[in-house]
Amino acid sequence: MTKSSFPLLVIGAGLAGLTAALAAAPRRVVVLSTGPLGQDCSSAWAQGGIAAALSQGDEPAFHAADTVAAGAGLVDPEMADILTREGPDAVRALASLGVPFDRDKDHGFAQSLEAAHSRPRVARVKGDQAGHEILRSVIAAVRACPSIEVLERTAVRALVQDTSGRVRGALVEQNGQIQTILADAVILAAGGLGGLYDVTTNPHSLRGEAMALAALAGALIADPEFVQFHPTAIDIGLDPAPLATEALRGDGARLIDAEGQPFMGRHHPLADLAPRDVVARAIHEQRLKGQGAFLDARQAIGDHFPEMFPTVFAACMGAGIDPRLQPIPVATAAHYHMGGVWTDADGRTSLAGLFAAGECASTGVHGANRLASNSLLEAAVFGARAGRAAALEAPADPACAILPTQSAPALPDGVIKDLRGAVGLYAGVTRDRQGLTQLLSLIDGMEGRYGPALPLIAARLVASCALMRKESRGSHSRSDYPQTDAVARRTLTTLSQLLANAPIKVAAE
Ligand code: SIN
Repeated sequence: MTKSSFPLLVIGAGLAGLTAALAAAPRRVVVLSTGPLGQDCSSAWAQGGIAAALSQGDEPAFHAADTVAAGAGLVDPEMADILTREGPDAVRALASLGVPFDRDKDHGFAQSLEAAHSRPRVARVKGDQAGHEILRSVIAAVRACPSIEVLERTAVRALVQDTSGRVRGALVEQNGQIQTILADAVILAAGGLGGLYDVTTNPHSLRGEAMALAALAGALIADPEFVQFHPTAIDIGLDPAPLATEALRGDGARLIDAEGQPFMGRHHPLADLAPRDVVARAIHEQRLKGQGAFLDARQAIGDHFPEMFPTVFAACMGAGIDPRLQPIPVATAAHYHMGGVWTDADGRTSLAGLFAAGECASTGVHGANRLASNSLLEAAVFGARAGRAAALEAPADPACAILPTQSAPALPDGVIKDLRGAVGLYAGVTRDRQGLTQLLSLIDGMEGRYGPALPLIAARLVASCALMRKESRGSHSRSDYPQTDAVARRTLTTLSQLLANAPIKVAAE
């Protein structure tokens, strides 16, 4: 087995990982990408844009207040303050890399409205192409940065630790060969777990691997039960499901049932622009009752659809739906993981040598329900903070020997399909004790047969913590515990605590 050594190892090449690598310069970094750079990462698929207080009359404090309100009592206000205060500069930094943000008539950032924002605050790029365009510019900067090396088409099989427990690198597979890459610090930025669900808007290769790698190494995991479901994935039977961005509703598109009647007014005073968890539950209920859910953009957007929302337009037309003339059939889909590897504001995890940023991290900034378009912002702000902090990490004590490391086992395709179906059914928009218990016994059986594969570890964290949270809050909705507890508590646990059935430590916000 070959061995190489770098000051910094970044696992993941979405916006958080690449921003971290750029922020760490001139420290030498190796970045691992699962596919060719820019593919297989959720950041590149983001449509709506990046939220930041960039317009006259808006302030980071207003953005922070909306972030806190959407998060259903679980947002850490200090993290929301950092995100929203550093947000405008993070967007300006992306613009200076060449991201062609849409501009208003005074050459300011054009700002659009999305659900649960108290004012238009989302900077868009070429209509609905924010993720793609942001990644394009950031990748160009990474390619031009002499301190960054990128290894494409790699898969991380385990984190490497030393006798002190410090994370010292990773076992990495490339072209069928396993190699060890050692580093003074490792930044996990390998995305979320949408691909654990049978209906998702994320690349389905993302099945919670980053959280599972950290959990197997003993890291503290926070709030894994909080999975956000996007209310308006386009229901045309594709896997992954194409997204119909929330910006459509911000621009006036309305949700209607199969009879053409609007229904969101029954669920929330903000109707179609209610927080995402509320809209997702309403759509889920409509569909369960057989009443259908459609996004009607005929009046509000009409003939402007192709230039305003080219990505959504192409997805619809590809399925024979002309959104200028027909309502778009929509369904909920796993979209974003608020939980993940616990970190502080600089991306430090509970394990020495290990940092995390982006969707796989849980700073507490999203609480129980992320505010729309805060995810690209989180990747940019907290990715940069993690990169700067990790670049200062001192080398490990050479007296601590590297421990032998086992690669996590792989799962056959058929087992992954069964797992995705079960996670979607039992840990989806609504959950209950019976379903979650059934899911856990299925995971036990699969783990007994195939060993601790990373998707099984991630699914176990979600299901066990969803079972233990006996309330409904934000994206976590228990039909057997519909109440919201008076005191909001984060889940903080380790995998070994869960496996030992130990009581989970919770921290009040
Ligand atoms: C969307 O465009 O609706 C998705 C944006 C987000 O998930 O924040």
